[in-house]
Amino acid sequence: MRLYASPSLIALSAAPLVVHSLQLPFGIDIQLPAVLDTHLNNIKTQIAQIQVPSFINKIIDPTGSSPLLSLHRDLVSIPSVSGNEAEVAGYLQTYLESKGFKVELIPVQSPEYPTTRCNVFAYPEGGSRSTPILLTSHIDTVPPFIPFKDGLRTVHGRGSCDAKASVASQIIAVEELLAQKHITADTVSLLFVVGEETTGDGMRHMNTLNLKWDAVVFGEPTELKLAVGHKGLAMLDVEAKGRASHSGYPNLGINANSHIIQALYKLDNLKLPSSDLLGNTTLNIGIMSGGVAANVIPAFAKAEVAIRIGAEHFSDVKVLVEDALKGIDGVEATWKQPHYDPVFCDHDLEGFETIALSYGTDIPNLNGNHKKYLYGPGTILVAHGDNEKIDKSDLYEAVKGYKRIVKGILSAKAVVVAEPAKSETAASSVEAVVIEPSVQAEPVVEKVEKVEVPAAAAEKGDTKKNEGEEQAEYVTILPIDV
Ligand SMILES: *[C@@H]1O[C@H](CO)[C@@H](O)[C@H](O)[C@H]1NC(C)=O
Repeated sequence: MRLYASPSLIALSAAPLVVHSLQLPFGIDIQLPAVLDTHLNNIKTQIAQIQVPSFINKIIDPTGSSPLLSLHRDLVSIPSVSGNEAEVAGYLQTYLESKGFKVELIPVQSPEYPTTRCNVFAYPEGGSRSTPILLTSHIDTVPPFIPFKDGLRTVHGRGSCDAKASVASQIIAVEELLAQKHITADTVSLLFVVGEETTGDGMRHMNTLNLKWDAVVFGEPTELKLAVGHKGLAMLDVEAKGRASHSGYPNLGINANSHIIQALYKLDNLKLPSSDLLGNTTLNIGIMSGGVAANVIPAFAKAEVAIRIGAEHFSDVKVLVEDALKGIDGVEATWKQPHYDPVFCDHDLEGFETIALSYGTDIPNLNGNHKKYLYGPGTILVAHGDNEKIDKSDLYEAVKGYKRIVKGILSAKAVVVAEPAKSETAASSVEAVVIEPSVQAEPVVEKVEKVEVPAAAAEKGDTKKNEGEEQAEYVTILPIDV
């Protein structure tokens, strides 16, 4: 399904339709003689057959003439706030089937959502359901829906970054790898899940299907860098109970605020574990409330705390926090869901910058001993905001990035599924075989930022693909800033 057609083509095909009969004043309507009508029809047919040269089309309609940008646009245009992913899943099914993929819609049922939603699982027709490499991302977004808006260099809209930029560039990367015969049909499969932004139910459902992979590449905004991992998460409510009384007679009451202040001061100054890879564990007291009036001793106080765990495990942090709160009267900690340990990712591929992240992903929700890569276009800093956006050049870079990751994994394949690393920390040193990739990583290519319509590429048109030639296929046309 294409949601938009090139404006130039709409104009050409619509123009001749209006001259079938001549409308005159006073209600006189002259029907054209049949001969003339036939003549007009001929002209109409001829005009409809005029092909706009591809380089012109790229200028008139850069988004519509780019498989990558138009796929991304269609995805962003479809609202898919968590719980309402059905339409975008249906779109992806149609799209992927039209590109020669076998597509399974995998129903996910969760108590949180009344309707059945579907993960989209796809692999090349004629290939295998069980491939060594999986590329995956999520199709749900945070609320509210923000419509697609096309800019010169940038695309705006909900999900344009998180994570439909990853979805679109993963798909195009696999299409190109197949077309250029860098991979066979049984090498890479694609999975786009529901519910990543809320409960992770879509990805956790995959654990029931008995599928496994050697390496899984997760698509999330990482600024086109290979993530070394992301912090874990712990969330707790701290509550203090006291007894109300007149503020003039504090000895008759118990001040809940005084107690929670002591507790929170301790937490705020707590020494928590850190690692070189992910940095410090950080603790945020996000909400505080307590008391009813200035002249009443408060009987109740509450605070909500989120901890981003940079080292060790959730259970270690839990012990440290509970120890700190011991001995403070009337204060109690309640741990909330979800919580997870720090996630360490594989980043043993050459030619990538690395990044440590402080947000959560679906990585801990997928069981298995697969290698874990985390990479994608865009930055988390805009991901959930009302100005969510992505640079078009980043989409193109991400296609190249995913292709290099797949090729890198394949060329280092001996490493894959050696021994499941016991400790995820510093996993690479534990693994048995480490074979240097025999294929050099492609050089990091500069971002496409200038107008570039290579004459040769334009004349070739879209009809014939030149094998092994990567860059001529999708030319970004981005006006130079003045
Ligand atoms: C980590 O914590 C140490 C000690 O509290 C502090 O000096 C350092 O600046 C922190 N690092 C970062 C990146 O915040």
